[in-house]
Amino acid sequence: MAQTWGNFLFSLLDYKTEKFVIAKNKKVGVLFRLFQLGVIGYLIGWVFLWKKGYQETEEVIQSSVITKLKGVDFTNSSQSGLQLWGAEDYVIPPQGDRVFFIVTNYVVTPNQKLGYCPEVRDRLLFYFVIPNTNYATKNMRHLLERTGRCINDTGTCEIHAWCPVEHGQTPSEPMLAKAENFTIYVKNFIKFPKFAFSKSNVLPTTNSTYLKMCRYDKDHHPYCPIFLVGDVINWTGYSFQDLATKGGSIGVGIEWNCDLDKDESQCNPEYSFTRLDSVKNSQNSAISGYNFRFARYYNDVAGQTYRNLFKVYGIRFDILVNGKAGRFSIIPTVISIGSGLALMGAGVFVCDMILLYMMSKSSFYRETKFETVRVSLQTLIPAAPQTFM
Ligand SMILES: *[C@@H]1O[C@H](CO)[C@@H](O)[C@H](O)[C@H]1NC(C)=O
Repeated sequence: MAQTWGNFLFSLLDYKTEKFVIAKNKKVGVLFRLFQLGVIGYLIGWVFLWKKGYQETEEVIQSSVITKLKGVDFTNSSQSGLQLWGAEDYVIPPQGDRVFFIVTNYVVTPNQKLGYCPEVRDRLLFYFVIPNTNYATKNMRHLLERTGRCINDTGTCEIHAWCPVEHGQTPSEPMLAKAENFTIYVKNFIKFPKFAFSKSNVLPTTNSTYLKMCRYDKDHHPYCPIFLVGDVINWTGYSFQDLATKGGSIGVGIEWNCDLDKDESQCNPEYSFTRLDSVKNSQNSAISGYNFRFARYYNDVAGQTYRNLFKVYGIRFDILVNGKAGRFSIIPTVISIGSGLALMGAGVFVCDMILLYMMSKSSFYRETKFETVRVSLQTLIPAAPQTFM
């Protein structure tokens, strides 16, 4: 028993090497070389050069976006007179978020007070006062009993609401036509935590004089962080006029694709622009456009509250940041090489199959490759001690 264990332990120190059979077969030989060339080509061309298989990558990007708008416009309407719109008025919310809204068109209902007034016929659904009633124009008689009065002149009933109710029509031209020339200054700070790499889209080479002058342009100023609203909309393939009148949503993409084996100055943002609220080939006007209402409240001298109701149309901008970074690392390099070598093994297997089973002389090759050894138990036992010598 002890001797068997001893034999086993000693045999662990033996090195076994494979014995090769060289088949002088040009067809299979050429096939095998072609396969090897293919694998080497794949490994070098696709895995290493194109896919950068020697790099460790990081797809998590930490980013912060700060925006600032500039530009002023005047509007003149019959209800509210001459008005000046600065960034503090037309940007909602004003704190310079990643997502912001620019007012380009609006309907204002000034000086609303809480009280009783007739409804406006085509806006019935907005202002009903009785909860849980499903009333429309047809059911107006019903309402008569519930609230008391209906007014013959307007053909509608009286309601308790902020009066007068909104009745203005959306202007067919954007009220803030100069919004086209407003500028958006986008500051984007990014960080790839795995590589402790951080950068900003305002490049270190940018000075303040350039920042005052430049406007982003794909060809001439690709790294200028200041965008003209009108240009951004044009690059999405839509017209400013359309979007500004009915409202819409625009996505500004910032893509960071950084090869950190190269110099830091090679890691730069790439901008893209797209309209987010459009469904391709859809003519459905019910889903396009963007508007909402808000009110500004005041007190008059008598202490009574009144408000100005705004229904605003405009363009919502979403700044979408994504990116990835890669840097040389030994582990992915070894894994890529290893998987390439494994593919070579697949070549050996395929060529073996062809050689041993699909050629006219296959049986000859099989006989040479597979050696059948028949050993009786008697010869095996005395042979064992010989391995020690
Ligand atoms: C925007 O600026 C351009 C160039 O300065 C000017 O031609 C255009 O009239 C301006 N647009 C509006 C709506 O003011």
